[in-house]
Amino acid sequence: MKNHNPPTPSPPAAARVVSGMRPTGALHLGHFHGVLGSWLQLQPTHDCLFFVADWHAMTGAGARVPREEAVYEMVLDWLAAGIDPARATLFIQSRMPEHAELFTLLALHTPLAWLQRVPGFREKQASHPSYGLLGYPLLQAADILAYRGEWVPVGQDQSAHLELAREVARRMNLAVGSALFPEPQALLSASPRLPGLDGHKMSKSRGNTIAMREAPERTRDKLAQMPTDPQRVRRHDPGEPARCPVWALHEVSTPPDQREALAAGCRSARIGCLDCKGQLADALLPQQARWRERAAAYQEQPKQVHWMVEMGTERARSLARRTLKDLRQGLGLHA
Ligand code: TRP
Ligand code: SF4
Repeated sequence: MKNHNPPTPSPPAAARVVSGMRPTGALHLGHFHGVLGSWLQLQPTHDCLFFVADWHAMTGAGARVPREEAVYEMVLDWLAAGIDPARATLFIQSRMPEHAELFTLLALHTPLAWLQRVPGFREKQASHPSYGLLGYPLLQAADILAYRGEWVPVGQDQSAHLELAREVARRMNLAVGSALFPEPQALLSASPRLPGLDGHKMSKSRGNTIAMREAPERTRDKLAQMPTDPQRVRRHDPGEPARCPVWALHEVSTPPDQREALAAGCRSARIGCLDCKGQLADALLPQQARWRERAAAYQEQPKQVHWMVEMGTERARSLARRTLKDLRQGLGLHA
């Protein structure tokens, strides 16, 4: 089993955690050992709200609506990983008009320059500039502030968005004259980014992923094609795990004592890369099998999954309504 590194800083118990994921296809090992790992670790001890950020998924060219299957496939991946709907509140962003209302009220108080300087906007504006793209981080702030979220497990690329959320929270607190919103903190997963099949960061856009629920033959094929230590050209050349992308997968999948033996075998050329990858498959395949089994059990009960999301949506809605009521009152809007 994988040993999740604790996210830093360590949040106090029972604090509110809010996080969303865009439905961009099957979740992969990078998700599991990154953000999803943080979710799993926080869910027993924190008040967690996890949602499908389908509006955010529409900010690319063409405002394409994610297919409903894609939305529920991602929820299935969460459940497969061990996200427990009895502990965490699961919902879908586009079912929550409260986020849009909050977005509007935040927008009225947000200087344009704050949004224009966010790196994500500056990188993408040339390809498909839209008002939605500019507002992307502000909508994210609304997602979090709607629940007065304190901790936000996200990937490293989201730090600037969380910084904006804090600035907006401060400004709104000034506007209403009370500490209505806590300043949300990013929780970055402490484990290093997982490399994909080509040695670069595992990501859908690079096409270098191993899916959580990848079929066993596909996983084996992908591992077989993975490059190893470039200095280990022949079987009898000694290798160095630190130079090998396969090793990064061992570090999150293989038990430590077995790993030590493997590292020694690599450095002394006692084992070949084929054996090494074989042992990785032995660790990875049972894990993937468990994820597939959990997902399959839920797939047989699609109504149950919809029901979980329905319950989650209702709980989220009551929390968001409360926040908006307080905000309207704070701003002097008639009730
Ligand atoms: N922008 C986030 C991402 O791409 C997804 C997201 C949307 C999110 N709203 C959020 C994450 C609120 C955390 C909290 O990963
Ligand atoms: Fe990489 Fe394993 Fe080969 Fe060493 S033996 S180079 S760690 S695949």
